[in-house]
Amino acid sequence: MEKILVLDFGGQYDQLIARRVRDQHIYAEIKPYSAISLSEIKDEGYTGIIFTGGPNSVYDSASPHYDPAILDAGIPILGICYGDQLMAYMAGGTVSSAEDSSEYGKTVVKVTGGALFSGVPEESVCWMSHTDYISSPPQGFRTTAFTASCPCAAMCDEGRKLYGVQFHPEVTHTEYGNQILRNFLYGVCGCTGDWSVEDYAERTIEDYRQKLKGKKVLLALSGGVDSSVAAALLSRAIGSDLTCVFVDHGLLRKDEGDMVEKTFKGHYGLNFVRVNAQERFLSKLAGVTDPEKKRKIIGEEFIRVFEDEAKKLGRLDVLAQGTIYPDVIESGKGDSAVIKSHHNVGGLPDVISFEGIAEPLRDLFKDEVRRVGTMLGIPRELVWRQPFPGPGLAVRVMGEVTAEKLAVLREADAIFREEVERAGIENAPDQYFAVLTDTRSVGVMGDARTYGYVVALRAVTTDDFMTAEWTRLPLEALERASSRITNEVHGVSRVVYDISSKPPATVEWE
Ligand code: XMP
Repeated sequence: MEKILVLDFGGQYDQLIARRVRDQHIYAEIKPYSAISLSEIKDEGYTGIIFTGGPNSVYDSASPHYDPAILDAGIPILGICYGDQLMAYMAGGTVSSAEDSSEYGKTVVKVTGGALFSGVPEESVCWMSHTDYISSPPQGFRTTAFTASCPCAAMCDEGRKLYGVQFHPEVTHTEYGNQILRNFLYGVCGCTGDWSVEDYAERTIEDYRQKLKGKKVLLALSGGVDSSVAAALLSRAIGSDLTCVFVDHGLLRKDEGDMVEKTFKGHYGLNFVRVNAQERFLSKLAGVTDPEKKRKIIGEEFIRVFEDEAKKLGRLDVLAQGTIYPDVIESGKGDSAVIKSHHNVGGLPDVISFEGIAEPLRDLFKDEVRRVGTMLGIPRELVWRQPFPGPGLAVRVMGEVTAEKLAVLREADAIFREEVERAGIENAPDQYFAVLTDTRSVGVMGDARTYGYVVALRAVTTDDFMTAEWTRLPLEALERASSRITNEVHGVSRVVYDISSKPPATVEWE
């Protein structure tokens, strides 16, 4: 199988690059530069390598470098931004730093030839983000593009199949970015495009059918996209040897628990166990108002409930998890602060011993997981489900969580989501929900004064949830949601819209 290595030098676009390559039907994997040696690269038989950007300057002593012999390994390389400068530096060129030639944003680039720019017009728009630039390309290289302030916006040594671009072909602002990547992959590396996520899923199913033969497998199904797709995929491989335990902690959105049950119970040939643990969670949460305490209680109780159920099931050999590729990459970087607990539900469970772990989605990006889900027949509402925090509505009910407050929030949230969906917004928000604040406010209904909850509506637009913009929802949608919530949900007197971005706010209120 053709395989591209995205060698990560600390840039922010490593995952985007790999996804763009996969979009061209070629498998790509990301490795931090410090995690793979040149001999390992050679042994892996990569078809091509892409050096990513990075925040550093090649002359900083602390900046990431690599064995220059990689340039002579006979593997085609495309360097992007810092990766381009690093290639120039390693091959004996000169990189300079000059504030007055730094470029940021959309920039007109002029190309003068070379395999990378086949089919790309002489003049087009690219995305630049750099201060350093290549002031003198290495011997054997020629300049193939420039901009008004960057004399070498692209270079190549065609003999050694080494290519570099100062700009970012992977971002959509670069008009011909996909064409440039395609030229590298197909034109330079000679790829034929032998990868598709559907074939990959079929192969994975077959793989697991062999690997898990005769084993009893347990999966914690949250109803989120990842664990649902993992369940459907493994059930195709091993059928009734898979048991999915769905812990309904009572903190799900309106009708959500039933939807998960309806999707999986009696379908896919797996064993589905729903544990209705609402009471158990609510009694643990009684009187607790501190957000972190709430999270901790829910995480711990989840493990206890799961363990209790697992013990009832008898022999279990393998624990399956819905880990996806971004989780794997983040753990590879050793940056545990950014690893989310969505998939492994806080490290399940250490009192039951398993001989192995199955992670059938560990090579796939989120959009690919969704495609596999669709292919396996998981309903649209589930495959396209927006992210939902593990602690559920507990972090959207400010203060103490009670059954009454949850009921109010569930109704308000369902109305808001319905109205956003009904508005058919072209650039729909990536996450949108209601929050039940801990504030009550005076209202008037008919002739009577009311004193009800203030509900806050939140909608954000984001790529990665690390930063997010509040979404400019159409006022009519907000108006309809507000009027319906105050009219239809008993106990709400006022609705407000949250216009804070992240940072400084977070997406969730707690
Ligand atoms: P924040 O609030 O940190 O949210 O800006 C970023 C994204 O993460 C989700 N989120 C969580 N997911 N457990 C989860 O599984 C949590 O405790 C949690 N807190 C936030 C949030 O919904 C958003 O998508």
